[in-house]
Amino acid sequence: MGKKICVIGSSNIDQFSYVNKFPQEGETIIGESFKTGFGGKGANQAVMAGILGSDVYIISCLGNDIFAESTIDNFKKNKVNTEYIQRADVSSGVAPIWVDSGGENKIVVIPGANNEINAEDAINSIKKIENVSYVVGQAEIPMKVNDKVFHYSKSNNILTIFNPAPGMELEDKFLDNVDWLIPNEYEFEIISGLKLSEENILDFSSKIYSNLIVTLGKRGAFLVEDTNLIEFGAPTVEVADTTGAGDAFVGTFVHGLSENLTAKESIKLAIEKASSSVQRKGTQSSYSSSSE
Ligand code: RIB
Repeated sequence: MGKKICVIGSSNIDQFSYVNKFPQEGETIIGESFKTGFGGKGANQAVMAGILGSDVYIISCLGNDIFAESTIDNFKKNKVNTEYIQRADVSSGVAPIWVDSGGENKIVVIPGANNEINAEDAINSIKKIENVSYVVGQAEIPMKVNDKVFHYSKSNNILTIFNPAPGMELEDKFLDNVDWLIPNEYEFEIISGLKLSEENILDFSSKIYSNLIVTLGKRGAFLVEDTNLIEFGAPTVEVADTTGAGDAFVGTFVHGLSENLTAKESIKLAIEKASSSVQRKGTQSSYSSSSE
């Protein structure tokens, strides 16, 4: 088993409606099918790493409803350590998701218990786990929690990876605690305030402490190495549902690093797993051997 990975972030119950095309404002349409599944960007990234065989821990906050126990069971099935899950006396997070016939999605997240996660408890968990090598986060829990956890992690020689999803502006002092920043193309534009272009990626990268990877969906990803941009292509595949592909990328990337792959090797593996996931419907259910 590789080095210890700790993912802090959201857990949601995903509620998928598959439609031919998204409804217009004020329009009612008849959809094709419905399914529920386990999701949340934090949970997805942890599960992807667990499926790949990482030694992975989740720090997430679940509610007081029937979703919580099934979410814990699902983590266990996917080899994610659940000892440090927090609970709150509110509803668990849920995410109504629409997916069109091209596999593109529109997602609304109702955070519920995800907003109740406690930073001090999370830091104590990281201390108790001991010898954590990687902390991974996203923006579906309050940023004040990420601030504290990333500051603690960076101060304790833990390599930090942040996926700024959903996209939001980030403070420089937060980015000073992020070793690897992994936005997608839309999130890049929000956090940098710049249009996506090779020149602007290099320009933004030169102004921040973090190493930068920008994921590009079906076009692959960019890595900034020194002052160069390295492009990684993606295979052409039949797309069923793109939901959770970015999380598959992040979970695989950190798994690769934990297995001593280089960043470039980890990105190639991450693109392979993300491309594989878009060929199946659902979020974690699209991560090859997930038992959801
Ligand atoms: O990235 C996909 C995820 O976004 C879904 O699982 C949904 O829960 C939202 O968090």
